[in-house]
Amino acid sequence: MSRTVEVLPTKVELIDRALEIVLAQVHSAIAQRGVCRLALAGGNTPKPLYQQLATQDLPWDQLQIFWGDERYVPPADPESNEGMARQAWLDQVPIPAANIYPMPTDAVEPADAAQAYDRHLQTHFGVQPGKFPALDLILLGLGPDGHTASLFPHTTALTVQDRLITVGQKDEQPRLTFTIPLINQARCVLFMVTGANKRPALSEIFAPEGDADEYPARRIVPTGQLIWLLDAAAGEGLNL
Ligand code: 6PG
Repeated sequence: MSRTVEVLPTKVELIDRALEIVLAQVHSAIAQRGVCRLALAGGNTPKPLYQQLATQDLPWDQLQIFWGDERYVPPADPESNEGMARQAWLDQVPIPAANIYPMPTDAVEPADAAQAYDRHLQTHFGVQPGKFPALDLILLGLGPDGHTASLFPHTTALTVQDRLITVGQKDEQPRLTFTIPLINQARCVLFMVTGANKRPALSEIFAPEGDADEYPARRIVPTGQLIWLLDAAAGEGLNL
């Protein structure tokens, strides 16, 4: 793993830098393997990045889009991560519908949806149960409590090692989420973190020793590159 941390003066500069990184990863994956497999994040921070991506001229049929987590609501719900990314980006560009792989949220039981999607991804990537495919780029956010994707502090989702997808919980609300071993298999993981309310968690996450159940993002240690982009409000005064 190689880890870099960049502190950008403002949120606008952070998004510009994120766009540069995403475009570089997309072009390099397509040049090397003919396809770029990209997983998106929810939250407010990445929305302007998606709006920027909507203005780019990319080889859309060589991009495959996934989500690192999803609230268990239909895509039309304002809470849906899929809905946000479609509105801000995917609905604005000629990406083939078949290249978009949203997490299903229509089964009665979220565990059934997680299992069905886990199998779907195994088939899509051609991996056996217990093996993990390498996505080219996974975008992640960070919550003030140290969660990332839907991997919340002290939840059983943090312990799942044998699947690609599991059920996360926030305030009794189920979510679907990539598991830690799936995220850690990525060629590149890009965190985008803005706001002073993230600083206490960041300081715990970057500390040499710490509690990875309390601060789940400590568990993100990918095989490939790990890049943290922080705005000054989040990164100020941190011991990096
Ligand atoms: C949630 C939040 C969360 C979000 C982070 C960072 O579903 O609980 O959306 O997962 O991604 O809190 O969000 P911001 O980057 O918007 O602060």
